Amino acid sequence: MSALFSPFQLKDVTLRNRIAIPPMCQYSATDGFTNDWHEVHYTSLGRGGAGLVIVEATGVAPEGRITPRCLGLWNDAQAEGMARIAKAIKAGGAVAGIQIAHAGRKASANIPWEGDDHIAETDPRAWQILSPSASAFGANLPRVPKALSIEEIQRIKQNFVDAARRARDAGFEWLELHFAHGYLAQSFFSTHANQRTDTYGGDFENRCRFLLETLDAVREVWPENLPLTARFGVIEYDGRDEETLAEAIELTKAFREKGLDMLNVSVGFSTPEAKIPWGPGFLAPIAERVKREAQIPVASSWCIDDPNIAEQTVASQQLDLVMVGRAHLANPNWTYQAAKALAVQKPSWVLPAPYAHWLERYQASMAA
Ligand SMILES: Cc1cc2nc3c(=O)[nH]c(=O)nc-3n(C[C@H](O)[C@H](O)[C@H](O)COP(=O)(O)O)c2cc1C
Repeated sequence: MSALFSPFQLKDVTLRNRIAIPPMCQYSATDGFTNDWHEVHYTSLGRGGAGLVIVEATGVAPEGRITPRCLGLWNDAQAEGMARIAKAIKAGGAVAGIQIAHAGRKASANIPWEGDDHIAETDPRAWQILSPSASAFGANLPRVPKALSIEEIQRIKQNFVDAARRARDAGFEWLELHFAHGYLAQSFFSTHANQRTDTYGGDFENRCRFLLETLDAVREVWPENLPLTARFGVIEYDGRDEETLAEAIELTKAFREKGLDMLNVSVGFSTPEAKIPWGPGFLAPIAERVKREAQIPVASSWCIDDPNIAEQTVASQQLDLVMVGRAHLANPNWTYQAAKALAVQKPSWVLPAPYAHWLERYQASMAA
């Protein structure tokens, strides 16, 4: 029996297996609205067999988008398109999730295939970027952000709450707060970005405040019976990893106590100086440590596109969910093909009936 293809229950939601498609920006929206591309893309991912599909980083405010082509949920009209995306994912048998985000000092960037760098400040498409402190990321993202005022911090928390409410009403059943990848929330946690001297910066407790308050506020509007999760960079690979990881685990315990149901363990990406040890499943042992020490279910991704490695991470209880991203862009049926590679017998465990019925008959006739 495959561990990867066993169902997974979190709150009232049951995934058909342990494979999730992590959020992956499509950089294809206009003014934050979904369009035909998003419908095609998410429809194909929903029907490929994965248990969960998480819609890409969706800006809680216009200035919280990474690029001008990112999705948004800062108004009700955007939520109408999102409702169609949630429906399409569910029609394929997957659970529909969404990641809500604020890009902080990494916002106002060109889309990856047009440079992946900050849009020049003089360009009319650029906007003012915001961060805990007036400190730039550097490298391809050199713009110096404006340090947030207390009023602006309160407003952004409310933006998260409003986006979560819209996601709920649009039919999403799994919410992921983007607290990772050097965007706004990660920037509050990381000393690479946060040099504040007020209650939102300085010591550990103050650097956690924005994340915990945002979680608390979102918990108020997100239904108790549905998974509320966060993606969080627990390690930077900057030479201070033990310290960062210990703090991240302490914060994760606090997340759990405040009602977080799962952590999607990722990298901080708060500094361009990081030396990341890319390789198959390199983050899985870190995720396992977070799971064990913080006593919370974990998901993780990064270079797990070999079905046997994916199976191993779940069977050995390193991960509760395996996030498989780019492999699903190359092949939206990756999950079904992984099931075949792991000799999972019945396509109906993976695919919706209109496909599974014929494939089971086909398998049986070929075996006869
Ligand atoms: C095109 C693309 C867009 C991405 N967009 C997001 C995003 O919106 N939010 C996020 O947290 N991570 C994003 N990521 C990271 C992925 O979620 C995932 O962690 C990464 O691709 C590693 O997993 P993989 O090796 O299975 O592809 C993106 C990655 C890619 C390739």
